[in-house]
Amino acid sequence: MLVFAVQFDRFGPSEVLTVGAFPEPHAGRGEVRVRVRAAGVSPVDVALRAGRSPSSEKIDLPHIPGVDAAGVVDEVGPDVTGTAVGDEVFGAVDVSRLGGASAEFAVLKFWAAKPPSMSWEEAGASGTSVETATRTLDLLDVREGATLLIDGAAGGVGGVAVQLAVARGARVIGTGSPANQAFIARLGAIPTTYGQGLPERVRALHDGRVDLALDVAGAGSLPELITLTETAASVVTIADFTGPRLGVRLSLGEFGGEPSGHHGLAAAAALFEEGRFRLPVQEVFAMAQAARAHALAERGPRQGKIALTAADSW
Ligand SMILES: NC(=O)c1ccc[n+]([C@@H]2O[C@H](COP(=O)([O-])OP(=O)(O)OC[C@H]3O[C@@H](n4cnc5c(N)ncnc54)[C@H](OP(=O)(O)O)[C@@H]3O)[C@@H](O)[C@H]2O)c1
Repeated sequence: MLVFAVQFDRFGPSEVLTVGAFPEPHAGRGEVRVRVRAAGVSPVDVALRAGRSPSSEKIDLPHIPGVDAAGVVDEVGPDVTGTAVGDEVFGAVDVSRLGGASAEFAVLKFWAAKPPSMSWEEAGASGTSVETATRTLDLLDVREGATLLIDGAAGGVGGVAVQLAVARGARVIGTGSPANQAFIARLGAIPTTYGQGLPERVRALHDGRVDLALDVAGAGSLPELITLTETAASVVTIADFTGPRLGVRLSLGEFGGEPSGHHGLAAAAALFEEGRFRLPVQEVFAMAQAARAHALAERGPRQGKIALTAADSW
């Protein structure tokens, strides 16, 4: 059977995205297939499509972008327990495939039950942001009473990391553009702006103590983050490849062979039901409008995620 999916058959600007027909995918061992209700758009998807990601050369064209999706399970692979056809779930594809989510059907590698009151858009755009935030907070061992600085707090990963760290009892300072200061405060962090003078601004904010720092922006702030925490061992980055040279851990998840934060999905769903977590969704587009969604994703400032919703008929 052929099914619809967003696709691109050459690298380039967002306009290369169209809707095409593909053979239906099937759930492999430990996987489920969902009829997609919503999918996320991430910076990684945009970089892959533009041909400027180191992984662009690893994908075959035509390619279906997107790694995050939510939907209704319609096929359960071997060795899956606790999930049945008809369950509403959210999660992500096998990220090593670098795509496959913005389609009529997607195969998920990790997932959790979608809380009934969580919108499809929030659920569809959550998977890898929750996984990445959980993995890096685990790596930093963020606990009650710690002061954590998050550089890039208003974005997809940062907006989740702020809330999950606050839920762990940490005091969080989050950086963003001037336009995002109130947004960061609403997420639960003490806001400040990023860029030059960061150590001075952070020290002026409170008692000056910063125990831990998480760089989700990859904008070159690692020396300042090390200055603030006083040791590179207390800093983790997900986006700055100069990190290891400075003694900072670069967390790449499955790409780096690390333990994943997949357990974070069920935990985030539980926090959602307690009213302590939400996924900020900046804007929602129909799948057929994926080019507009990618164009928006290439512009700042960010306020959380961008989502695609699946139409009843493609
Ligand atoms: N290693 C991993 O496992 C992993 C997983 C997911 C993502 N990533 C990578 O992590 C990065 C962030 O992903 P995302 O989904 O959170 O992206 P995003 O939604 O685009 O957010 C990026 C954030 O960076 C902020 N920012 C922009 N310029 C900055 C600067 N000079 N200093 C500090 N912050 C700045 C933006 O703030 P304003 O909007 O306020 O300007 C925005 O909040 C991307 O490079 C992505 O490829 C890595």
